[in-house]
Amino acid sequence: MRPLGNVTVTAPAKAILVGEHFVVAGCPAIALALDIRAKATAELLNEDVIEIVSKEFGIRRYGGKETRVEDPLYPVYLVVKEVLKLAGSNQGLKVVIESNIPPAAGLGSSAAVAVATASAVAKLLGLNASLEEITRTAYTGEVEIHKKPSGIDNTVSAYGGAIYFSIGKGFERLDVNFSQVRLVLADSGIQRSTGTLVARVLALKSKHSSVLDQVYAAATVLVENTRDALEREDFTAVGELMNINHGLLSAIGVSNAKLEELIYTARQAGALGAKITGAGGGGMILALCWREDAEQIAMELSKASTKVLMTSVSEKGVTLESG
Ligand code: MEV
Repeated sequence: MRPLGNVTVTAPAKAILVGEHFVVAGCPAIALALDIRAKATAELLNEDVIEIVSKEFGIRRYGGKETRVEDPLYPVYLVVKEVLKLAGSNQGLKVVIESNIPPAAGLGSSAAVAVATASAVAKLLGLNASLEEITRTAYTGEVEIHKKPSGIDNTVSAYGGAIYFSIGKGFERLDVNFSQVRLVLADSGIQRSTGTLVARVLALKSKHSSVLDQVYAAATVLVENTRDALEREDFTAVGELMNINHGLLSAIGVSNAKLEELIYTARQAGALGAKITGAGGGGMILALCWREDAEQIAMELSKASTKVLMTSVSEKGVTLESG
């Protein structure tokens, strides 16, 4: 093992284009990496501690033997421990987290932090970890936060681009040119927990399985058709399928009046499609727009939302910035 100096790595946020929630039960989904990034800087310490620092949550020092604690930085520590295990090391180190990704908004901020951390620590320790190993170690943090995550968030953050994903079947990176379109995201201002929403949806599914099995089957076909439309670069069809997907998400109970207001604002302003993205119940909505319409749509959304972001698909997944 060859210890290095400081290592800085970034990883992108994500938006689920189609298939959230359904993916947890084994259906496919498509996620996009976004041009909004989280950053982790790792450095060696002479002490036998793991220090996690974030502007938002402060400094935490872990001795390596902690049992589970309720703390937003504890999942980051678990990721560090997992990488140390992979490297067969108990080196003390510090990780500084900085993120431009709005938290708890459906944009995979925890996954991007976990992926950037896993990669920065692996590089710091001189470990030649594959993207698959980075994705897997980052997943440890995701399980701590979201309980039963599908793994789509950490996968798209590690690999970048557009990802077609199913639990247990892995993923494929889709070859799509997104230069004609922009993504506009608008915040409902409603905080929610992905783990709680996933559990609620799964409970509804088992209570009304004879009805909802049909909805899940429709979601599977919808994702396949979206994949075909993306590969033809038929963004009009992609937008229509996003709107249908939103209807299916309403059917499983994860929409609300504020999200509907934002979604209809985006559609009326000319979006190709608009829907919940991620767990729903709050967080952000995603609108797909022609490049030349995006600014006008963002302006209309800003009348109903406290935070509007205009972004593109990031081809870059996890990226070494320095070190
Ligand atoms: C992930 O961002 C959103 C959900 O599909 C949960 C998951 O895939 O783990 C709701």
